[in-house]
Amino acid sequence: MPRKSILDARTQRLRFRRNLLAWFRRHGRDLPWRRTRDPYAVLVSEVMLQQTQVVRVTGYWTRFLECFPTLEHLAAASPQRVREAWDGLGYYRRAENLRRAAGEMVTHHGGEVPREPAVLRSLPGIGAYTAGAVASFAYELPEPAIDTNVARVLRRAFHPRLRRGAAGERKLWDTAKTLVPRAGNAAWTTNQALMELGALVCTARVMHCTICPVRGACRTGMNRRSTG
Ligand code: ADE
Repeated sequence: MPRKSILDARTQRLRFRRNLLAWFRRHGRDLPWRRTRDPYAVLVSEVMLQQTQVVRVTGYWTRFLECFPTLEHLAAASPQRVREAWDGLGYYRRAENLRRAAGEMVTHHGGEVPREPAVLRSLPGIGAYTAGAVASFAYELPEPAIDTNVARVLRRAFHPRLRRGAAGERKLWDTAKTLVPRAGNAAWTTNQALMELGALVCTARVMHCTICPVRGACRTGMNRRSTG
């Protein structure tokens, strides 16, 4: 089959974003952390979601926030109590890092979750992804947030031949920067929608290209035969 003509990069990005957002408005899940902009609650959700699936996180997130409703509560809690609230979620270092991060925010950041990704990244357990996610999802800053799901979507859609490694990673972040709109609210939606597409359609196991809203703007989907 002849390859379909490749769109120029800007047209591809615009079309990709337009179709993605239209899809997300109709099909995006109503997840509890999408209903808040409380930076502390958003931070807790993103740390839990780093290595755990959405369905498991939902109950834990609600209970954790009942136990430790604010940064101050978490900072003052004993490691043992925080560990207990995390029990069953796995990757327990996350809980201890989160407790220590809360302590640092209370002591050094005026009791607030910082806005700037570079400052967020100086806190225990917060890497590039979580920093971008908090900046975007809590503060509606136009920052990209690339986790494993989003990286897969961007690679397939924009850089199907990208090599693994640091240079490839940088390329994905550059692409995400150009994709995320400057307006904070639209940036919030774009980042959530990219995650949603990676979770529901462009999954690790199967690319559901036939039902994919961005197929026409995807360098992998455009050239695939019409199988699932
Ligand atoms: N995975 C990481 N962050 C997420 C979010 N905000 N919503 C759904 N899945 C996610």
